[in-house]
Amino acid sequence: MEKYLNKGIKDLILEFPKVGDILNEYNIGCVPCNVGSCLLKDIIQIHNLSSEDEEELIVRIARVIYPDRKIEIPEIKRKARPKSKEIKYSPPIKRLVDEHALIKRWLALIPGVIEKLDIETKEGADLVLDGIYFIRLYADRFHHAKEEDILFKYFDENLDIIKTMHEDHEAGRAHVKVIIEALEKKDKKAVIEHLNGYKDLLTEHIKKEDEILYPWMDRGLSIQQVGELFAKFNEAEEKIGKEVVDRCKRFVVEAEQRIQITKVPRSPMKNNGCSGSNFTS
Ligand SMILES: [Fe+2]
Ligand SMILES: [Fe+2]
Repeated sequence: MEKYLNKGIKDLILEFPKVGDILNEYNIGCVPCNVGSCLLKDIIQIHNLSSEDEEELIVRIARVIYPDRKIEIPEIKRKARPKSKEIKYSPPIKRLVDEHALIKRWLALIPGVIEKLDIETKEGADLVLDGIYFIRLYADRFHHAKEEDILFKYFDENLDIIKTMHEDHEAGRAHVKVIIEALEKKDKKAVIEHLNGYKDLLTEHIKKEDEILYPWMDRGLSIQQVGELFAKFNEAEEKIGKEVVDRCKRFVVEAEQRIQITKVPRSPMKNNGCSGSNFTS
């Protein structure tokens, strides 16, 4: 079994497809991952399952690999387990989780944006563009930049889990680029397809970070590193400007009001600074 714990997960699933089904049952999404060179033992450690789930998972995988043998289950070394299901984040990581909450509020508005989509008029196109500027400024230039330029640098960026996060960020940027081009071409179908694509991608990405990546990173950071991160995040916030961050928060509040008022005529949304060409990059 030790041999298979040290094997890349894609190769293992290729050899034993049932292993992929078992991992899925524990919400460990290795099958759709494009990278797939994580070792089985790393995957078990990163997801920090309860002792019972971990043992059960290994036993089930062992039965697939060695159906006729009694297997001795090796212990996988890992950092301290949380005592309860509730995730406790360090202060700097908690800030990233809070930023996710704001991004998720805009993602939740996307079905409403699509429902009233009218890209033939400037006002209709602006409804999408305002959200795109929020994504570019807040989700990407502010939040993703803190992850890529600061947080991820504390870890081995060759790890699949981090490579996957980078790939998600790039895929998100690609969706945004296509949405802007589709708006210019007045291609409504493509706008809808890529707005939905972005929503699905980011929803899943944020879930992975909140539930798997960040807790795993928190377990690996020293107290000194947590302090450094906090200071570096403050610097990043100062660089973009607290006022800009506050305007982005107000943008989401106003967008929620604006999208909800779907059936009655509304006055154009006032420029709150988190929309329009001020923030295109
Ligand atoms: Fe991310
Ligand atoms: Fe994130």
